[in-house]
Amino acid sequence: MERDGYKAKAGRLAVEQVRSGMVLGLGTGSTAAHAVRALADRIREGTLTDIRGVPTSQATADLAASLGVPLVEPGAVAMDLAIDGADEIAPDLSLTKGGGGALLREKIIAAAAGRFVVIADDSKLVPALGSTFDIPVEIARFGAAITLAALEDVGTPVLRGGDDPFVTDNGNFVVDLAVDPIGNPGAFDAMLAAVPGVLATGLFVGIADEAIVVGVDGARRITR
Ligand code: A5P
Repeated sequence: MERDGYKAKAGRLAVEQVRSGMVLGLGTGSTAAHAVRALADRIREGTLTDIRGVPTSQATADLAASLGVPLVEPGAVAMDLAIDGADEIAPDLSLTKGGGGALLREKIIAAAAGRFVVIADDSKLVPALGSTFDIPVEIARFGAAITLAALEDVGTPVLRGGDDPFVTDNGNFVVDLAVDPIGNPGAFDAMLAAVPGVLATGLFVGIADEAIVVGVDGARRITR
């Protein structure tokens, strides 16, 4: 099975945890899109009813709406479960997220949901965050050069998009921060969050409850 097939299987397995009546955080990215499609299939078949989704990006809102998944505003009702992908998954279920630039909304939704299940193919498993992926950091446009300079104290920051900067759904910029493998993601996250101008980091520490990871040997579940 090729990588996209692994992602699709992880999405389907996560959707098996959904029960009728649930309110779901809907993640962003190619793996999360598989979960949205699996959810839409089950709604269409009639095996899930009274489902509402809270999308973490405009792209996911558009996909869900196009497939007939009912949506609700964040905060309108409590979320039972959030399902989203990741760029890196460490053994303690800390994550790097934000490759798609939706990190701030993803973090708000994942942290607020009753449970957060992360779905991925096995290429995302790493011994330590920062090993294979630069850490996305959402920053304010105001004073972006100052924030970039401050981030040089902790890594090598690159403004995503360069001269034509990537702009998030929230109207902000994203920095991709190259770092050495991170020994203590919680402490590193706190250090980044303390930099004025940093609005959200792509380090998700202590948020995920379960990872469903699919590879050549099949699916495995990692829990905290
Ligand atoms: C979006 O901002 C990200 O956090 C994604 O969840 C992450 O980049 C994983 O994306 P893929 O599922 O496309 O690999």
